[in-house]
Amino acid sequence: MRRVVAALALSACRPADPPDPGYVWDLPAHFPVPAVPASNPMTTEKVTLGRFLFYDFKLSIDGRRSCGICHEPAKGFTDGFAVAVGVENVAHDRNTPSTTNVAYRSPLTWRDPDLWSLEEQLLVPLLGDDPIVEMGVGGHEDEVLARLRSQGPYPDLFADAFPDDDDPVTIERIAMAIAAFERTVNTGASPFDQHLLGDDGAMSDGAKRGAERFEALGCGQCHGGLFFDRPIEGDGTVAGASGYFNTGLYDVDGMGGYPPNDQGLVEVTGDPADTGRFRTPSLRNVAATTPYMHDGTTPTLSDVLTDYARGGRLVASGAYPGDGAGNPYKDPRITGFVLSDADRADLLLFFDALTDWASLEDPRFEDPWCADDDPRHDCVPPIDL
Ligand code: HEC
Ligand code: HEC
Repeated sequence: MRRVVAALALSACRPADPPDPGYVWDLPAHFPVPAVPASNPMTTEKVTLGRFLFYDFKLSIDGRRSCGICHEPAKGFTDGFAVAVGVENVAHDRNTPSTTNVAYRSPLTWRDPDLWSLEEQLLVPLLGDDPIVEMGVGGHEDEVLARLRSQGPYPDLFADAFPDDDDPVTIERIAMAIAAFERTVNTGASPFDQHLLGDDGAMSDGAKRGAERFEALGCGQCHGGLFFDRPIEGDGTVAGASGYFNTGLYDVDGMGGYPPNDQGLVEVTGDPADTGRFRTPSLRNVAATTPYMHDGTTPTLSDVLTDYARGGRLVASGAYPGDGAGNPYKDPRITGFVLSDADRADLLLFFDALTDWASLEDPRFEDPWCADDDPRHDCVPPIDL
């Protein structure tokens, strides 16, 4: 039993990228050193600055949003909503993905195959207005930079992180610091990880059976590798990037249609065969990141299993009814299967064993503005700007 589960993940270990000289990573023992762009080497000072910025409401135009309010540690670095809601209280099309272990994820976001850099990605919520205004800093950069130049710990934190710059408080430096912090939020002490590292008692028998079911049902063909987000290639190796697949969540017109506002990879490529294809999410911490799928329309993990078992989701009512099982663009591996109550229970135990609950309260990652022992305690929105 043990070998099956171990093979599932250890095969994923990629060769480590060259370590960043001078920076001491505090990684789970079995995680490779993440790739880091040469233009933004890791430093402890940058990570500290990035952590303050990640959780700072001053980084949104009205003081009501921070990265951390949508990517909240206790919720597995998600927001718990079906879809994200930005500063103007307008709903995003998509569900907020977890940013745990995001240093290892590529490409980024649900359906943009060209977005590989954390430094670039975060400019979307920070500055962007498409599909929604998330933090609203675009067009107000000077106002927000002025806040940071004068307030709180920032003059010192920026000077420490970027000692060679006369005026380090720029959007580019903010992006570099936040990306450096994001690369440190790695969670790898789940029962599954402990099992992998040799503790045979860490996973319950049910969770171990669930791991075997997961492989036997072909789930690992798309959710493969150490982070359960990479497809397995024909030769059995783990692919270098996540795949995009249509899992049969919708069929709004009997011809494979997805809701018009959010049709997946086709919106980027223009290829009709890409309709309904979204990036495979990592299943690490999945028990903490409810609700599920790109638009948050599957409430529980048990519902996820029901939908896979019937070979696609039946949407019986609402704005987009239809039977996703008949979607012609659905991946051929989503064929359905018989799922006994015992299998369901075991798979749910396996999902729980993939979740590193303790890491979601790890003091290294928590909001520094809220730390009880921090004199700057100032974390309740809205704040004075
Ligand atoms: C209003 C809520 C909201 C805010 C604020 C927000 N995000 Fe996100 N984040 C999202 C959503 C929604 C997505 C998915 C977008 C998509 O797929 O189109 C996302 C995606 C991401 C991803 C990609 C994760 C992955 O699995 O590929 C990262 C990294 C990220 N956000 C970091 C940040 C950072 C850093 C900030 C602050 C500058 C931030 N986010 C602010 C909601 C938010
Ligand atoms: C053909 C590739 C493929 C296969 C096979 C597959 N998945 Fe997925 N899985 C995906 C993709 C892609 C998504 C996201 C779909 C979307 O949001 O439109 C997903 C989403 C999920 C989610 C939701 C995660 C989240 O954070 O929203 C879970 C849980 C999941 N799959 C579990 C499974 C299980 C269990 C199996 C086996 C029964 C399985 N998957 C088989 C590709 C696959």
